[in-house]
Amino acid sequence: MEEFSELVKAAQPEVRSEAKPETKAENYEIKEPYLSIKHVSKVFRKGISRLTKKGDGITALDDVSLDIGKGEIFGILGPNGAGKSTLIKAVTGLVVPDSGEVKLGGLDCKKDKEAFMAKIGAQIETPVFFNKRTGWWNLNYLARLQGGLPEQRIRDIVDIVGLTDRINTRVGTYSMGMRQRLGIAQAIMHKPELLILDEPINGLDPDGIVQVRELIRKLRDEYGTTVLFSSHILGEMQTLCDRVAFIARGRLVAVKTKKEIEQGLGDTSILAIVCDEPNRAGALVGEKFGFRTKVQGTTLYVEVKGGNIAEINKTLIENGISVMSFNVKTRTLEEMYKELTK
Ligand SMILES: Nc1ncnc2c1ncn2[C@@H]1O[C@H](COP(=O)(O)OP(=O)(O)OP(=O)(O)O)[C@@H](O)[C@H]1O
Ligand SMILES: [Mg+2]
Repeated sequence: MEEFSELVKAAQPEVRSEAKPETKAENYEIKEPYLSIKHVSKVFRKGISRLTKKGDGITALDDVSLDIGKGEIFGILGPNGAGKSTLIKAVTGLVVPDSGEVKLGGLDCKKDKEAFMAKIGAQIETPVFFNKRTGWWNLNYLARLQGGLPEQRIRDIVDIVGLTDRINTRVGTYSMGMRQRLGIAQAIMHKPELLILDEPINGLDPDGIVQVRELIRKLRDEYGTTVLFSSHILGEMQTLCDRVAFIARGRLVAVKTKKEIEQGLGDTSILAIVCDEPNRAGALVGEKFGFRTKVQGTTLYVEVKGGNIAEINKTLIENGISVMSFNVKTRTLEEMYKELTK
């Protein structure tokens, strides 16, 4: 009830006289399941005694299953220590899960490791470069490590990530945003179908965030790259991602589409109804719809799950209650994030 009270409080200053139209989140269907993560679990054994095999260890991933469609921009959101990096590492082969499977276009992460890896490009944590060398030198060096690339391809990549003007200056002089884009350049050198980025916008200023956001969009829109990335920046997830997975304590707690996030974050809204008989109105709504209600002064607050907003209004009017104002307050992303990941 406390959380409802908080929402009630948040709804109070905004009471307005018009009702917003009722909306329903569209069902999101993946056209072509592409990256498939099934029942992946990982316990880090550091806390477990080798002799006695006792101790808890740290459960970083607990039975996580996700399907990501081809060409999706998919975000992973969760508090520190939630398991985001571990999940990303499980997909890139840097962490071996205790159980479960990861498949990409039918290729198994373990059994078809080489072919699997050829399809992905990744940047995990802060990219490391030779600071005293130029961006161009660093990219050529990394290209040689991967068996070499035609110079024109490297030029094209530099162009894609928008570093053409600075590619011949030393990396030590780059801003964080430029380093991130150089990191992405490194990750897309072999034209991966799936690009995986761990916290690509962490620590960037608003301009840097916009540049990385536009780059991710461009890679998806123009090159068809599927992008899986993690971030803490809620608004950015909402703007950029087609879907967002919320994880907490190693568990997948929800997957929301961009539309669901936009339309009031899931299917819960708080209605603030100012009417002449709020107590009778509350009893009616509670009885007919089973929603939680609370009366404060002349305002009835209703926690609505899954539509029915227009129906509530109709019921009140049919029962002779005069509705003075009817306001729908949908959740903010922050409220939703807190509730899902607490
Ligand atoms: N190599 C490791 N050895 C032991 N424990 C680890 C290891 N890597 C991660 N963990 C633990 O697993 C849990 C999940 O960590 P992970 O790095 O995946 O979280 P995260 O969501 O990426 O967090 P952050 O937002 O801080 O990057 C944490 O409790 C972490 O301490
Ligand atoms: Mg992390």
